[in-house]
Amino acid sequence: LLNRALSCSLAIPEFKEFCTQIKSIYDELRNVKGGKNAQYIPQLARVNPDYWGVSVCTVDGQRFSIGDVNVPFCIQSCSKALNYAINVTEHGAEYVHQFLGKEPSGRGFNQIHLDKNGLPHNPMINPGAISCCSVLRKEDSLAERYEYTEKMYKKMAGGEFIGFSNATFLSEKSEADRNFAIGYYLKEAGVFPEGSNLKETLDLYFQLCSVEANCDSAAVISATIANGGVCPTTGEVCISPDAVRNTLSLMNSCGMYDYSGEWAVEVGLPSKSGVAGSIFIVIPGVMGFCVWSPPLDELGNSYKGVLFAKKLVELFAFHSF
Ligand code: DON
Repeated sequence: LLNRALSCSLAIPEFKEFCTQIKSIYDELRNVKGGKNAQYIPQLARVNPDYWGVSVCTVDGQRFSIGDVNVPFCIQSCSKALNYAINVTEHGAEYVHQFLGKEPSGRGFNQIHLDKNGLPHNPMINPGAISCCSVLRKEDSLAERYEYTEKMYKKMAGGEFIGFSNATFLSEKSEADRNFAIGYYLKEAGVFPEGSNLKETLDLYFQLCSVEANCDSAAVISATIANGGVCPTTGEVCISPDAVRNTLSLMNSCGMYDYSGEWAVEVGLPSKSGVAGSIFIVIPGVMGFCVWSPPLDELGNSYKGVLFAKKLVELFAFHSF
């Protein structure tokens, strides 16, 4: 960081000024009401809807945080982007895409539907994410696969907070008729790799949805993706360049549920949203954000998080195009 500062090559040279602007967007949205917490499990329904946090980490490791940035939340569907990135790093894109596609589905995240090749549409929604979980280190035991993935999350977060909500995991599992239905449908269609065990695949999927982060640690994860897969706070290589390219492309086209197209036009930043109200936002080569506010809009994205991103690109020329 010091070297880059001295050589005047920081991604955001006027970082203090930038943070003042972020704070003003944060403050402007603080008392905005709208949306509703996810209701399908009590662990999400009863989270304080007023929690509101924004964290930034640049590719040089400059940090800014405001609000409830140390409160743990489950990363839920944000895990889908990470699992895909880890999978492609581990097994290569060609192998992984034998089991899932790259196209937006134009359908809800939990719809039971396959693409023209008979594969789940993409890794950012449930069928593709479940397929991803069937592939990830499939030769290992479930315990090892979970441990490995959690370690990878932590590495991407520069060793910062990564936890696990067992209550969420148990609730996810007991409210999972649709995910079981998706799983059996994929199994029947012959989507999974040989020898894979559906029960274990779904367990891994529920467990990874139940992993906790906070805004600060999640911003470092986003920044690792922004920084070509190298964690900006530790210098550790986490994700391969190929995997970063694919993950960003699919976050851009499919990361925000049925709002992905609108988001790509209005915000233009590869992002992934989860039902606990977090959005991981990546500005490639510049920085990563995590914004978190539990109430969701009718498409399942954080109500305040979406407003934040729109205001961000109004104020700064961050839109990819
Ligand atoms: O699969 C589910 O029901 C949720 N746990 C998924 C989480 C989520 O954020 C919505 N997904 N795409």
